[in-house]
Amino acid sequence: MSTETLPKLDEQTIATVKATVPVLAEHGEQITTRFYQMMFEAHPELKNVFNMTHQKEGKQPRALANAVYAAAQYIDDLSAIMPAVEKIAHKHRSMNIVPEQYPIVGKYLLLAIKDVLGDAATDDIINAWEKAYGVIAEAFIQVEANMYQETAEETGGWVGYRDFEVIDKVKESDVITSFYLKPVDEGVLPGYKPGQYLTIKAQMPNEEFDQLRQYSLSDAPGKGYYRISVKREEGTEQFPEGKVSNFLHKHVNEGDVIPVSAPAGDFFLDTASKKPLVLISGGVGLTPMMSMLQTIIKQQIDREVHFIHAARNGSVHALKHDMKMAGEEYPNIKTYIVYDTPTEEDMKEKIHAKEGYVDLAWLQSIVPQDSDFYFCGPEGFMKAIYGALKEWNVPMEQINYEFFGPQGDLEK
Ligand SMILES: Cc1cc2nc3c(=O)[nH]c(=O)nc-3n(C[C@H](O)[C@H](O)[C@H](O)COP(=O)(O)OP(=O)(O)OC[C@H]3O[C@@H](n4cnc5c(N)ncnc54)[C@H](O)[C@@H]3O)c2cc1C
Ligand code: HEM
Repeated sequence: MSTETLPKLDEQTIATVKATVPVLAEHGEQITTRFYQMMFEAHPELKNVFNMTHQKEGKQPRALANAVYAAAQYIDDLSAIMPAVEKIAHKHRSMNIVPEQYPIVGKYLLLAIKDVLGDAATDDIINAWEKAYGVIAEAFIQVEANMYQETAEETGGWVGYRDFEVIDKVKESDVITSFYLKPVDEGVLPGYKPGQYLTIKAQMPNEEFDQLRQYSLSDAPGKGYYRISVKREEGTEQFPEGKVSNFLHKHVNEGDVIPVSAPAGDFFLDTASKKPLVLISGGVGLTPMMSMLQTIIKQQIDREVHFIHAARNGSVHALKHDMKMAGEEYPNIKTYIVYDTPTEEDMKEKIHAKEGYVDLAWLQSIVPQDSDFYFCGPEGFMKAIYGALKEWNVPMEQINYEFFGPQGDLEK
């Protein structure tokens, strides 16, 4: 999107905002924590939209604050941060964030700044930030308006939530179960790009608020259904079990209906590229990779593919059969299983190519450097893969990844 259509700010406002970014960033977490407290108090209905577990973990407050400060730093040239805006906008679009909600966020962000900074937040500073927030919000609103329009214009596309019926529920491993979904209205099901996700709205009987969660589509498009594969997040001594994943596993069955928003996301397979393709997944990060693999089989069967999957052991390895079949049936598809703690049965079966973890030396021994790399998995796993690819000097434009939570920083 061009930034030409955004309102222009005067020099003084720009100078004030830029000069105060470091001050706000210093109190960043305090401000955003206060911001969410005040906003949820005044607008409890927004608890239906925000992930309340992320709130407890503090991940989401940090993500939003950092995005506002990053944008403010480039307030006189927002084109520099438009790629980041686009990325966030995909998530916003999938959760049906609407323009009317932006002033609410703006109002409580400013109130929180005042609250935390006290007298240091002069009227000049607050006025400048109000104007700056207005421009940043407008950038998001315009990008998202285009996305809503594209989604609505797609054959079978929809905006908002559409009811889907669970037509099949299949256990894929001890911890992962697939849900096959079809629209209740029996209307056209739009395609999607392999790697994209759905946002589902979980309406749980014991919860006061709806909970939205993203799940990657785990099969190729064009099959007449959507499939998601969900890992049941177990609790620990410290933390309760995952809300939505356990609800889906334990209480959502064939015949049940779930509201779903249209496929979204900017992490998807570039089917125009002819470079060798390396798909690397850890744990449930397998889901978008499976969609990509199945799409290759349907659309680009001549492409060289290396499909690497790391899991604790065979008991939690989902879609093992599909992976094995792809490797056996198509000579250009090579599959590699990596278990860090194989069971006795795994040792007998010996289907894993490596015991331990994916590392650079091993990657170098099996895949060409000039490949398109896609990866997804737990944050530690992603950092290791990213670090390995950087060390190998793989160009950034050939490195693609997805976080199964708020965007983290792979450089740290
Ligand atoms: C783009 C995208 C795609 C995704 N695709 C998939 C997919 O294909 N399959 C899949 O299974 N998941 C996927 N996810 C993750 C999914 O959206 C959910 O985050 C996941 O299912 C957990 O949700 P939950 O409600 O079960 O857990 P939550 O209730 O959100 O809890 C998450 C974790 O936090 C822990 N926790 C609870 N309270 C606290 C606390 N106070 N402090 C710290 N930790 C706490 C819980 O024990 C749990 O492990 C994806 C996410 C994204 C963003
Ligand atoms: C200019 C204003 C805004 C900025 C800079 C911003 C920024 C962000 C960022 C960085 C994320 C994390 C994306 C990710 O990595 O997953 C995010 C997610 C989100 N945003 Fe915004 N946002 C803004 C406005 C809004 C508004 C107006 C709403 C609705 C009231 C909203 C609702 C959400 C929700 C619900 C999430 C996902 C939360 C989660 O999963 O924990 N945002 N936003």
